[in-house]
Amino acid sequence: MPLPCIDIHSHFFPKDAPSFATKFGEQSGPWVTLQDHGDGTGMMMLGDKPFRPVHDALWDAKARIKDLDANHVETQIICATPVMFAYDAPAGQAAYVASAYNDAALAMCADSGGRLRALAQVPLQDAALACKELTRAMRAGCVGVQIGNHVGPREMDDEGIVAFLQHCVDENAAVLVHPWDMLGGERLKRWMSAWTVAMPAETQFGIMAMILGGAFDRLPADLRICFAHGGGSFPYLLGRLENAWHRRDIVRGISLHPPSHYLNRFSVDSAVFDPRALRLLVDTMGADHIMVGSDAPFPLGEEHIGELVRNQPGLTEVHRRQVLTENARSFFRL
Ligand code: CO
Repeated sequence: MPLPCIDIHSHFFPKDAPSFATKFGEQSGPWVTLQDHGDGTGMMMLGDKPFRPVHDALWDAKARIKDLDANHVETQIICATPVMFAYDAPAGQAAYVASAYNDAALAMCADSGGRLRALAQVPLQDAALACKELTRAMRAGCVGVQIGNHVGPREMDDEGIVAFLQHCVDENAAVLVHPWDMLGGERLKRWMSAWTVAMPAETQFGIMAMILGGAFDRLPADLRICFAHGGGSFPYLLGRLENAWHRRDIVRGISLHPPSHYLNRFSVDSAVFDPRALRLLVDTMGADHIMVGSDAPFPLGEEHIGELVRNQPGLTEVHRRQVLTENARSFFRL
């Protein structure tokens, strides 16, 4: 019998999402909608363009539980897909969208017999509105919040984002940082390069901003924050950043310590798809700072959730259990 796991990074989209185009006008958006093909498959649409092929585990708790049972996942944490964030919409619209999606996420969880838990989304472009929706969503039953790694040119050391993260500490909300709005422009159009090249870079940017921009120095150590996709390219490139920090003062920003000093301030998920990468992650971050994240139920997620960690050679059984369940239980207070 394979060891159970808790999957802390998965996505949902409500089948009956409200029509934001009707509410805010055809000039707004583009908004995400779902084309349900009626055979258990569908297409997420962004405006009138196909965005991603999906299946019913994305919106149907019963179908999702079947996947969880087949993969020995005891609890799964669901959150929005970053394309739903609306960070570039007017803040009032984004606040409305966030509360609608948060309620939909909690409705899906309510249908799951306790197997699904939700992370909220917030209108991060407006710190006051973001704090307000976080408070509301936590009281309604969310276990934390998912945010994108930047809002336009504002990185994670931005004053408003740091104020929001402080509010997460005050509200006891865990934070998952997901890469989005990828750098690279036209060059990303081939080979899904937004996923394979730019997403890991965005995540690295987020961690770097928190370190070099002094966000970790300003925020308390009990902030629970996790970066998706194994921290992107950050763990692999830590030595490069560390060397630069010591050799050039223009690298250091306002950080009080070299980058390696902050490794115990954040966690990462295990979505790296290769035992060599997971070994590097365990060596760099420590097994107590890694949790299973699958990116299910999307096509580029871990097909057999938790398999990489379950089969990882050289991992002690104590560390394996930490990564599979124990870290997530304490991180999300499950
Ligand atoms: Co994801």
